[in-house]
Amino acid sequence: MPSVNIRCRENGPLVVEGEVTLTDHQGNRFVIDASKRALALCRCGISNNKPFCDGEHRCGDFQAAELAPSKS
Ligand code: FES
Repeated sequence: MPSVNIRCRENGPLVVEGEVTLTDHQGNRFVIDASKRALALCRCGISNNKPFCDGEHRCGDFQAAELAPSKS
């Protein structure tokens, strides 16, 4: 069982659940509030707080509802 789960929110961010570090393209770490059990990463591209989701996806017409293959 993985210690990190990344959950795709319908028409919203990628929610990362588990203990992770997040670095920028220069290798510097973003500060993550250790009290939070999950963080939401923007995948719509319009957040004013990238790479984090700030809820702006609700204002646009971003749509993403990919489904994983069923287990049958
Ligand atoms: S996914 Fe929420 S602001 Fe982009």
